[in-house]
Formats: sequence, C-alpha cells, structure tokens
Amino acid sequence: MVKIELFEVDHWILSRSSTTVKHNLAHSYCLPRSIRDLQQLAGDSDAATEAFSQVLSKALDYGPMKGSERLRSKISKGYLTGSSSDLSIENIITTPGASLANFLVIFALLGPGDHVIVQYPTYQQLYSLPKSLGIDVSLWETKKDEGWKLDLEQLKGLIRPNTKMIIINNPQNPTGAIITKSTLEAIVDVARDHSITIFSDEVYRPLFHSISPTDPEYPPSILSMGYENTIATSSLSKAYSLAGLRVGWIASHSSKVIDLCVNARSYALITVSQIDEYLASFTLSPSVGQGLIERNDTLAKRNLYLVQSFIDKNSSACEWVRPVGGPIGFIRFTRSGKPVDDLELCTALLQKRGVLLVPGRKCFGDGVNFSGYVRLGFGGDTGELEVALDALQLFLQEDYSDVPLSTGP
Ligand SMILES: Cc1ncc(COP(=O)(O)O)c(C=O)c1O
Repeated sequence: MVKIELFEVDHWILSRSSTTVKHNLAHSYCLPRSIRDLQQLAGDSDAATEAFSQVLSKALDYGPMKGSERLRSKISKGYLTGSSSDLSIENIITTPGASLANFLVIFALLGPGDHVIVQYPTYQQLYSLPKSLGIDVSLWETKKDEGWKLDLEQLKGLIRPNTKMIIINNPQNPTGAIITKSTLEAIVDVARDHSITIFSDEVYRPLFHSISPTDPEYPPSILSMGYENTIATSSLSKAYSLAGLRVGWIASHSSKVIDLCVNARSYALITVSQIDEYLASFTLSPSVGQGLIERNDTLAKRNLYLVQSFIDKNSSACEWVRPVGGPIGFIRFTRSGKPVDDLELCTALLQKRGVLLVPGRKCFGDGVNFSGYVRLGFGGDTGELEVALDALQLFLQEDYSDVPLSTGP
C-alpha cells in the first residue's frame, strides 16, 4: 500500500464543524459563480440559451480521449505568444481540476530513484505526493524576510545527478507571491543546462491583481519561456471562480509528456465529463472568460485593500508580504515580537468569533519559517470579508493575549 501523508489543508477545513464557521476565510478561490452568472456575462441571452440547449441534445459518450477539441482550442488561446512555438491542441489534455492534473504529471513522469526539487512553501500535493511514490524530494525554501523570492544559487546547490524535475507554483499558494519573468528565465537556464523538466502549477493564473501585464517582470506561463521540457497545469477553480465545475488541464510542448499523461489518465478516469467540458468551453469564450477575470481582478484588488488596512492597523500583531497574484496571503501573527501558536490561534478564533483561517505550520509543513503564520483567503464577497475582519479585530482586542506563543522550532 502506498503510504500517503494526511492532506493537512483539506483535513483542517473538513474537520471544522460547519455550524461553528460563520466567516470562512480558509478558501483559496474567488467568489463562486453560477451558470446563470455565466449566461449574463455572455451578454446576448438568446445566444447563451441557444448554446446551452445544445448540451441537452448531446450524445453522452466518453468524448475525445484528450478532452473536448473545442475546449482544448480555447485553453490553447490562453498560451498564445504570437510565436511559431504556440501550443497545439494536441499538446493539451483535460482533467477534473488541477489536482488530478498534478497527480497525473507526478504519477506518469516520476518514480523511485528520481529526485525532484519543489518550491516551498507550496500546495502540499506538490511535495507529499512525490514523497509517497518513493521519489526523493528537496524543498527549495523561500522566506518571508526575503519577500518569498527564490534563490537561484540555492537551486543549483540542490541539483543531483538524478534530479528529474523542478516543481514551481506561480502564483504561489499560500503566500500569493509570484515568480517574476527574470527569475523564470534564470530557472529555465539552470534546467536547460541539466536537462531537467520544469513543472509549473499555474492554477491561480491569470489572477495577477498587483502587477500590470505591461510590467517587464509580469510572469509569462512557463510554456512561453522557449524551453520544450516544460509542463503547466491549471484549472477553472481559482481565477475563474468555478471550482465546482471540476475542469482543469495539463499542457506541454513535449508530445512525449502528453502521451505519458494520457496513458496514466486512462487508468484513472478515461475522460472528463462532457457536460463539465461543455460548460468549461462556454466559460472560456472571450466575453465570459474575460468578464470573469476582470470581475475577480477588481474584487481581489478591493478586498486586498481591506486586508492591507487591517494589517496596517494591527501592525504590532501581524505582518505579511503583500500578495501579488491569487486571492490568498500568508500572515504572520506575533506578540511582543514572538510568533504565536498558529494552531491555537486558529482554533480559538473559530471557537470565539467563528472565523476560519488556515494554520500555517500545521497545513504548510513543520518548517521553522511557519510558526505564527496563517493563510487568509480574500477572494470572497467584500461585505462578508468586512464582517469577518471586524470579528478578527474583536478577537485581537479581547482574546489574543490568551493565545499561547509558539513552542515550535
Ligand atoms: C496550488 C494549487 N494547485 C492545485 C489546486 C487544486 O485545484 P483544483 O480545484 O483545480 O483541483 C489547488 C487548490 O487549492 C492549489 O492551491
């Protein structure tokens, strides 16, 4: 039996009683939308209704083995660079969400005896899954005091003769930090020198609320960096606010990578629900997709301002590196300069004020860096966020002094 570690974030959220949770700031996606919202974004309601009626008469066979061609064609447009190396739809396969996309990439391409380097902190799946499959994992650590920036010299020092993959997450969960264009270029140079594949989980793309596309450091997808040994995964869950649709994808310029993932996909699911793919394809039509991203960008900016104001007001108790992408941030809580116990903080906050946050040390590893850290999701409704921040403020005023300091490393 494969020994698999507890998936801490999901376990933490699932095991909190829904009756205690009044203000959920533990989520990492933007305000979920309905099919009706999508119809409205399409503008022309007759055309939208006509488009939806097509799904009623669709014969529900398995569908194409790599996923709906219409959907893959729309996904490919998200990687357009205007160069000859644009992505063909043959180099994209659909999956139910980015979770399964990540699973298939790791499962299909790696095995015992391989070594991978994983940006850290990050989504637990990206380092725990390879570990459970007997793959050697080195964590490429980043620190708050260095703005969560990746250190290229550290990367070079981690490379071994059997290093097969560098795994990055851009924008990054839980910090909302991004890997800038120049850092991506430097990672590609190192990977190319050693023929290492770069796998980038880009599930929060293209929600870059705090960097303009005209900024020279605006991060392109890893697939646009002119290196064939690259893989990107993504989905409609976060930036497109449709986690319930369960549609994601794997994209790579390497046909060999895609073939291996298609084969692994056959063992796990055969194909994705055609109805989900149909809705996903509708979502990625220009007016709907663009409309969703614009709405969520505006929402993230507005909500980020509220969280930043809260942090500024309480600067003796909390601090963060202001996130640049994705609707999440990693806040460090201290008292008299020492980190509080984040698990105790989250537990007491939930019990007393009904606010659900994610404890950093528990859910993002036992690393020395994460005592006192919590992940806060700010992609939800603005009014609800305001109420949640008021509840958090009351907690700081009335209950915070009872939270024990961290005894961790
Ligand atoms: C970095 C990262 N990758 C993948 C996923 C899974 O997303 P999906 O809902 O598309 O399966 C998450 C979900 O939180 C995530 O944070």
